[in-house]
Amino acid sequence: MGLRFKYNIVLFLTCLLGTAAATGISYFIVQKSAIEEIHRSINLIRANAIAVRSYTLNSITPLLSSDNDILFLPETVTAYAAHSVFSTFKKTFPQFNYKEAALNPTNPADLPDELETALIEKLREDQSLGQTSTIVENDKGRFLTVAFPLTIKQPGCLRCHSTPDAAPPAMVDLYGPDNGFGWKLGETIGAQIISAPMAIADRRAQETGIILIAGFSIVFLLVFIMTNLMLGRIVLRPVRRMSDVAEKVSMGDFSVPEYRKAGKDEISSLSVSFNRVRRSLERAMKMIDD
Ligand code: HEC
Repeated sequence: MGLRFKYNIVLFLTCLLGTAAATGISYFIVQKSAIEEIHRSINLIRANAIAVRSYTLNSITPLLSSDNDILFLPETVTAYAAHSVFSTFKKTFPQFNYKEAALNPTNPADLPDELETALIEKLREDQSLGQTSTIVENDKGRFLTVAFPLTIKQPGCLRCHSTPDAAPPAMVDLYGPDNGFGWKLGETIGAQIISAPMAIADRRAQETGIILIAGFSIVFLLVFIMTNLMLGRIVLRPVRRMSDVAEKVSMGDFSVPEYRKAGKDEISSLSVSFNRVRRSLERAMKMIDD
């Protein structure tokens, strides 16, 4: 196995390991920061929903709630307003999702699925949790889903969510007496569940990986070409010539011209020493012949 081959194998393995490690680490870091960005957009969606809720509660409900006893207007309900505003938002950003899920919801559309139930249960078990999140994979791709607890903090909520008798009759007519009642003050009855696509995070991590691999490959190619050129010129070619001369001299052929490598490096001083050895040998041989 030649010197060049050994050198190139070591160089190749080092570059391969270096590229793999750098790509792996950067993939991890980029994905982490992209996930943080997704978290930020989820927080924005939530802040917007809270703003819609508070606008409905403070500005719309007082205007229309007096009519609720005769004709119940779901538009006066904060959850309804948040959900309706989001459905308009979703037309522009279909990949995002917002749901106010409750274990015992007034509107059956707010029933949680299996995963949402698990998130709500987790928030109910640990009341100090401000949020809980998970990554969901389905046929549409990977999604980051974050659940924020919906806890009954205002006694006013219980007017419509404690017993059907306490609720506006028109509301009970519309939604029925079986769902969305029995909620307690301080109870976490459900969660605001928001999910956002991970595609941006995945794509960005992939792009960074490809850029890194391409960058490392160019650097590797340059290092490969330059060091091979240097290796040939500085080490291999002079060593090969010295070994040719040494071969002939060892067979008693002193007619080959001396080889002296120019410069002051180790190979040059080796060529000088070798010439000296060769001359001494030639002299000794002559003395024996005489
Ligand atoms: C005027 C009656 C009324 C009041 C007061 C009220 N809600 Fe509701 N709530 C409803 C109705 C009706 C729905 C179903 C809306 C729909 O069709 O989406 C609902 C839905 C919800 C939902 C979505 C889950 C579900 O049950 O479908 C949550 C969460 C919720 N309300 C929480 C609250 C909280 C918290 C308060 C107090 C700040 C409150 N509600 C006050 C009537 C009310």
